[in-house]
Amino acid sequence: MDEVGLEPGLTLDPVGAEGWAEFRALAHRVLDEALDFTEKVRERPVWQPVPAESALRVAGELPQEGTPLEALCTEVTETILPYATGNVHPRFLGWVHGSGQPGNLLAEMLASAMNANCGGRDHGAIYVERQVLEWCRQLFGFPEGTSGLLVSGTSMGNLIGLAVARNEAVAGMRAAGVGAMRGRLTVYASSEVHDSVAKALELLGLGAEALRRVAVTDAFGMDVTALRERIREDRAAGLQPMCVVGCAGTVNTGAFDGLEELAAVCREEGLWFHVDGAFGGLCRMSEAKRGLVRGIELADSLAFDFHKWMHVQYDAGCVLVRRAGAQYAAFSMRPPYLAHASGGLGGGMEWPCDLGPELSRSFRALKVWFAFRENGVRKFGALIEQNCALAEYLGERVVRETRLELMTPVTLQIVCFRVKWEGASEAELDARNERLLIWLQESGVAAPSSTRIGGRFAIRVNVTNHRTRREDLDVVVGKVLELAGSF
Ligand SMILES: Cc1ncc(COP(=O)(O)O)c(C=O)c1O
Repeated sequence: MDEVGLEPGLTLDPVGAEGWAEFRALAHRVLDEALDFTEKVRERPVWQPVPAESALRVAGELPQEGTPLEALCTEVTETILPYATGNVHPRFLGWVHGSGQPGNLLAEMLASAMNANCGGRDHGAIYVERQVLEWCRQLFGFPEGTSGLLVSGTSMGNLIGLAVARNEAVAGMRAAGVGAMRGRLTVYASSEVHDSVAKALELLGLGAEALRRVAVTDAFGMDVTALRERIREDRAAGLQPMCVVGCAGTVNTGAFDGLEELAAVCREEGLWFHVDGAFGGLCRMSEAKRGLVRGIELADSLAFDFHKWMHVQYDAGCVLVRRAGAQYAAFSMRPPYLAHASGGLGGGMEWPCDLGPELSRSFRALKVWFAFRENGVRKFGALIEQNCALAEYLGERVVRETRLELMTPVTLQIVCFRVKWEGASEAELDARNERLLIWLQESGVAAPSSTRIGGRFAIRVNVTNHRTRREDLDVVVGKVLELAGSF
């Protein structure tokens, strides 16, 4: 009962000073557990399969009544926390995952307390996002007037960039759809391009067949002569080339297209130039590596991630569009309930919802802002160089081991290799290497992933991990050789 004798209203908050004190004590304990989890990461297996018993404890009937928070937290630490992806571990070396950073735990906690909806309106979180976008504009050498948006990742960034490109190419697109242009618009990318680009074209109504997968050179960058030829053929067939997607770091091998040259082709041909710089784009942060992304500053749109090589906690990506008007024209829609006000909470400048498909959005920008402010660009550049040096070290070790075969040159942070067994056919090599990789992951010692190079199964080590050391890579090679002996 409150002082005027009324029952307190129903709420999700702890009740009274005592309730808050209990909640605070529990919150401190959980924070300690989260910190222990991070500090003691080396003591755990990289990954372990979710046991059926744990999966069962997560399952259950739709809860009609609540459970005390303390019991819930215990359940999470026992049944969920131990079965993480593993990318916080120094020997997580698969796909292209960032490894997170402790400072971001604090940023996420503060953002959660604010619980801001960053679709729009005039409040602090929007200013933080604008500042992050301004830093990105400077980082990538884009001109003033660039617009952008924080997104879940490069898949969404590619979708938005290509949506803007499509709308610029087809007059009246927003009202009438692709219409008469159905099946006629074409997009060009190397055969190594990430499939999020094909998925984006499907979603945008262009169809995955609109994607021309242009041949690559021996270094896995796009063959520009083949690109020009393909554009010429398509024009001759009455099609309308729309866009070239440049790869700044391919997912298979970490290769780069010649972005400057692609930008020149786009200029000559009147095409939109989009760059997928998911992880490789951030080579702009390193003096030693930035030559690889020369020309990225010429893109009409660029998608990249903070959650990969900047280790921002998942999820956090970005899209930049060189000409702000184009992004605004593709997405802005202001019905009366979202009308722009001359002041108050409904005021402020352009809202993020004017620049992408989402209206309600989380306060992703705070963790990115934290990462930039806490570490600075120079440190991220040095970490990228450290990862590339480790990949080079691993590549050299693989070359020295007679039982191992390096399958592609190491250009950045990815090392593709396989074990060779004398007398084994290609099909057997594929099958045995695949089994070996699964064993390696299931042992909890290390977690590389896989790909195919020239159709052959490859164990793929990707080092976008600020915790990985040389000893970790030695452990991987040692375990691979040990397992190889028992196959
Ligand atoms: C080159 C490339 N493009 C796009 C993506 C998709 O990015 P996200 O997973 O952040 O959506 C990835 C993911 O690894 C990638 O490596």
